[in-house]
Amino acid sequence: MNIVRQKGCRDILPEDTKIWQYIEEQIRDICKEYNIKEIRTPVFEATELYSRGVGDETDIVNKEMYTFLDKGNRSITLRPELTAGVVRAYIENGLSSKIPSPIKLWYTGNMYRYEKMQKGRYREFSQFGVEFFGSSSYLADIETICASYELLKRLNIADKVELAINSIGCDKCRKEYIDKLKNYLSPYLNDMCDTCKIRFEKNPLRILDCKEEKCKKILNSAPVITDSLCDECSNDFNNIKNTLEKLNINYIVDTRIVRGLDYYNKTVYEYVSKDLELAVGGGGRYDKLVSVLGGVNTPAVGFGIGIDRVVILLKEYGLLDNIKNNKIIYFLTDDSTYIKSLEYVNSLRNLNYTVETNIQERSFNAQLKYANKLNADFVIIIGEDEIKNNECSIKNMRTGEQSKIKLDINSIKEKIGNA
Ligand code: HAM
Repeated sequence: MNIVRQKGCRDILPEDTKIWQYIEEQIRDICKEYNIKEIRTPVFEATELYSRGVGDETDIVNKEMYTFLDKGNRSITLRPELTAGVVRAYIENGLSSKIPSPIKLWYTGNMYRYEKMQKGRYREFSQFGVEFFGSSSYLADIETICASYELLKRLNIADKVELAINSIGCDKCRKEYIDKLKNYLSPYLNDMCDTCKIRFEKNPLRILDCKEEKCKKILNSAPVITDSLCDECSNDFNNIKNTLEKLNINYIVDTRIVRGLDYYNKTVYEYVSKDLELAVGGGGRYDKLVSVLGGVNTPAVGFGIGIDRVVILLKEYGLLDNIKNNKIIYFLTDDSTYIKSLEYVNSLRNLNYTVETNIQERSFNAQLKYANKLNADFVIIIGEDEIKNNECSIKNMRTGEQSKIKLDINSIKEKIGNA
């Protein structure tokens, strides 16, 4: 029996890893520029972290977690997201006393959700996320939006996705809104889908997320949450909208956005590709989560962007031209010159050139064929004669031009140009 990979998991092969590396490079650059520090947390955590942190009534916790008992009988869960894990690490490591506030952290990594596999929806997927702790100011929300938007801009996909924002208020105004929503919905409840009926009791806000046509119709005239915000939540939301306008960041207000995780409050947002029907990222404020997980009350805000989905966008829109490929230099040698050539091979590698050598002990002709297949830019030939004369032959594989030059690193560099 052949062993194959698990459903919903993918092997990311070399032709794609270069796209991932390109995205990860932009992420690292942006986080350095924003002084956001990297954090790495475990791939599995105590199940309770997610049931308390993300919320028992969410689809993620209810239906999608990879949970198992380990050999010590502990209930363990593969992380379905990383915010809860970062909050746990923030509390457990006493970061608030180690790093000046606001503490700004970023991560990338794999997450696991038992979902129905489709394009852009996997059981193992990867996110880039940012979490800020300690600032209750709307300016912290703005900085998270700016950082995520900057990534989309650098990848040339900012105009391919829509930034949709909403405010889901604080505990107080949300409760008032939920009462209004339930009052409005009760007479229609029998006409709604089964999921909405359950959500009506357990998590009424999530009804706004329903994709069923019959429910969407009923929701069209439902009260909207932004009409029920208290002064503080409303001011925050207005400040965010005004600032986005001043920064020329296009957005729409979508009062149906509630997010699929329970920890959010105040402003929430999503980046959505309408064309491809994909949510590319999402985030918002979660001022209660640190205290819910046992820490000191600390305001927080963050986002997560799905890297798998960013890769899909880059491919769909043919935006891969910015991925820089190093020139490939092939050293064509024989048994007697291989070791001597390594001196030059290593010097070039140290200078960041991509260099291939004859590790399969091929013949002269077979090496030339191989260099062609590799799509090498230059072939440097070092045979016994060349060594004797302290020179090498260098062939430009693009033009076919071949010449003899001095066997020294500066002459080689001059001929092949930048890496
Ligand atoms: P989320 O909306 O659940 O938020 O996920 C963020 C992004 O991860 C989604 O917009 C999507 O691009 C990607 N994603 C989610 N599930 C899958 C999947 N099954 N396959 C491929 N991509 C997927 C969170 O996880 C929050 N922790 C974000 C956050 C950070 N909020 C505050 N801080």
